[in-house]
Amino acid sequence: MNPAMHLSSNGAYGADCIAPGRLDITRSATLRPMSELLNKHIVLGLSGGIACYKAAELCRALVKQGATVQVVMTEAAAQFITPVTMQALSNRPVFVSQWDAREPNNMAHINLSREADAILVAPASADFMAKLLHGRADDLLSLMCLARPLDRVPLLLAPAMNREMWSHPATQRNMAQLRADGAHVLGVGQGEQACGETGDGRMLEPNELLHEVIKVFAPKPLLGKQVLVSAGPTYEALDPVRGITNLSSGKMGFALAQAAALAGAHVTLVAGPVALATPFGVKRVDVRSALDMHAAVMAQLPQADVFIATAAVADWRPAQAASQKIKKDGSGQMPVIGWVENPDILAEAAATERALKGDVFCVGFAAESHDVLAHAQAKLARKKVPLIIGNIGSDTFGADDNALLLVDAQGAAEWPRAPKTELATRLVAEIAKRIQRS
Ligand code: CTP
Repeated sequence: MNPAMHLSSNGAYGADCIAPGRLDITRSATLRPMSELLNKHIVLGLSGGIACYKAAELCRALVKQGATVQVVMTEAAAQFITPVTMQALSNRPVFVSQWDAREPNNMAHINLSREADAILVAPASADFMAKLLHGRADDLLSLMCLARPLDRVPLLLAPAMNREMWSHPATQRNMAQLRADGAHVLGVGQGEQACGETGDGRMLEPNELLHEVIKVFAPKPLLGKQVLVSAGPTYEALDPVRGITNLSSGKMGFALAQAAALAGAHVTLVAGPVALATPFGVKRVDVRSALDMHAAVMAQLPQADVFIATAAVADWRPAQAASQKIKKDGSGQMPVIGWVENPDILAEAAATERALKGDVFCVGFAAESHDVLAHAQAKLARKKVPLIIGNIGSDTFGADDNALLLVDAQGAAEWPRAPKTELATRLVAEIAKRIQRS
């Protein structure tokens, strides 16, 4: 238990704790978004391929995350995108030649690889990977990869090639050997290729590559754990064209799913109807109604080590959804609709044998309009979960930031307003601490 979260023995709240009735979780954001890449030095290598155009966007994304980027290009890469473009985006002169005289010791391959926190080659062509595999080093980029300190500087390769080249046994063999030699050989995308063919072999998109780099540096407190997250609203149909839903955007749940994946977990995200992009490396199951969400969560729960219920589940559903659009009958009266209570997914999960044994750690969210502490404490007891995260519904639905109140059997702690991505990273670390202790 975080000492900041304990009630003292006489029941008074400690310095970091909040007192009931004095909640102020509506302050404006004061904390910077966290970035795993802040002040990291990334060498971005480009070998020859049409996917070089994506390297420009990638370079920009890395810089935006606070990294410094040193671009190294092969001569073939310079046929596809100019060093001028890459210099402008990285704000540093680009290296192309192993004979570059700008380095005082004339050993660019040594200097560049020693300065790097990671080397990412994107695109990595089939030819470049074949060259690396054999330890050949006849240009600056391959020379630098060979010279990198193996124990300290991770090498990420983002393959990009035509689908036939990709599936060729030589390429697959080379990639397997490169992995065995310690490189992170990333996957590829599928779809239409520049050559006009369709299939596997496209380079991953810049945002996907960005996440791969972030993953390298992210702490892994949930390594190998199975994390299940419910997120977003549910939609309860009244008839084929209308229904009852709520304003939950799903952003907190999606941020938690992303943070858990970066923390090394295998994440399944059961998402109500939202238009958010699937977090990187997360398995997504889309659902619509509370009953759908209940079925999807219960199906995944036997494998889960952690269940984080962020979803704003409708408490009630129409007893019978009309099969045809409900029409006005001219009486001026709204038709009477019978309602049935939905299952409480979190409470049911927390009552399973595995949860009672402590094998699945259940976390709930409480979206309230007032008296957050009292309501969160009531939900903690009613749902029999070890941790409830309280927040003000109207301040969080749709917003990119939030303020949280962590409530457990020992007390409560206030986390001030911050971006949801940052709160998610913090919360994942907090959950990891708690499951290690239990
Ligand atoms: N929850 C759930 N299934 C439900 C209702 C809620 O899993 N049918 C979960 C939510 O995902 C959240 C927690 O329970 O983690 C609290 O949800 P909330 O809507 O705040 O509370 P309710 O239990 O619905 O209670 P009330 O409507 O009275 O506030």
